[in-house]
Amino acid sequence: MTEVIAINTDKIHHINRSYWDTRGNEFLGAIVLPLYGAFVSEAKYRLFGDVSGTKVLEIGCGNGQSLQYQGERQAAELWGIDLSAQQIEKARQHLAERVAERGISARLICSPMEEECGIPKEYFDYVYSIYAIGWTTDLEGTFSRIASYLKKDCIFIFSWSHPIHRCVIEENGKFVFSKSYFDESWCAVAPEFIQGELTLSDRKMSAYINALAKAGFAIEQMVEETDEEIMRLQGEDNDLTQRAKMFPVTFVIKARKL
Ligand SMILES: C[S@@+](CC[C@H](N)C(=O)[O-])C[C@H]1O[C@@H](n2cnc3c(N)ncnc32)[C@H](O)[C@@H]1O
Repeated sequence: MTEVIAINTDKIHHINRSYWDTRGNEFLGAIVLPLYGAFVSEAKYRLFGDVSGTKVLEIGCGNGQSLQYQGERQAAELWGIDLSAQQIEKARQHLAERVAERGISARLICSPMEEECGIPKEYFDYVYSIYAIGWTTDLEGTFSRIASYLKKDCIFIFSWSHPIHRCVIEENGKFVFSKSYFDESWCAVAPEFIQGELTLSDRKMSAYINALAKAGFAIEQMVEETDEEIMRLQGEDNDLTQRAKMFPVTFVIKARKL
């Protein structure tokens, strides 16, 4: 059962910040590049291409492992923003140990992605986000901010839980809808799954597409396939594999700022 919560940005940030400050990735596990999600990988889709010499910004950078991936591919500047001071500290330590010897120092900012926080405008070649965009309380405002950080013709890539995955549960060996695809209300995430309190809105796919268009992006590619090879490696018995055989669990969008 899920509890419906009326939207109150401060309250949502407080709940989610507390979770990431205290639990971090203990229960949810980190999803980091080259993976976009459990069954989608940059190794196959090559959405970034060559990032050498580029300026990259990660939204919801978590523990810094995806920024490390970009540093190892010779990105010239690594920037990250995250709501949680604890995640930012983890990222700082992680990157100090791994990319500092390349002469790259990451600039990490603790702030909600929805707010002005001093990130330079028209500056980045890539802005990206791995399983963090959906936490925003203001999708249109966040996409419009992200557009402002990018140089013209530059790229925004993000991955998130597929809305269908969030609607379906397994019951007696069958997948059934447990909630309406159209229900975008803010709900507590099932506490038995995450071992703590988190709150989330399950947006429709059209909410992402329309918010991108409104912010001035053109979509270049969308991925919702399940990679057969990763699925095979994860094993047939895995619950997530069973789901991923039937419907997408992750989607990834690559968009260009017009
Ligand atoms: C599922 S993690 C994704 C990060 C990384 N890919 C990982 O798997 O660890 C979600 C991250 O988004 C951050 N986050 C949640 N809400 C946010 C917000 N409104 N603004 C910025 N970051 C936020 C959390 O603190 C957390 O580090």
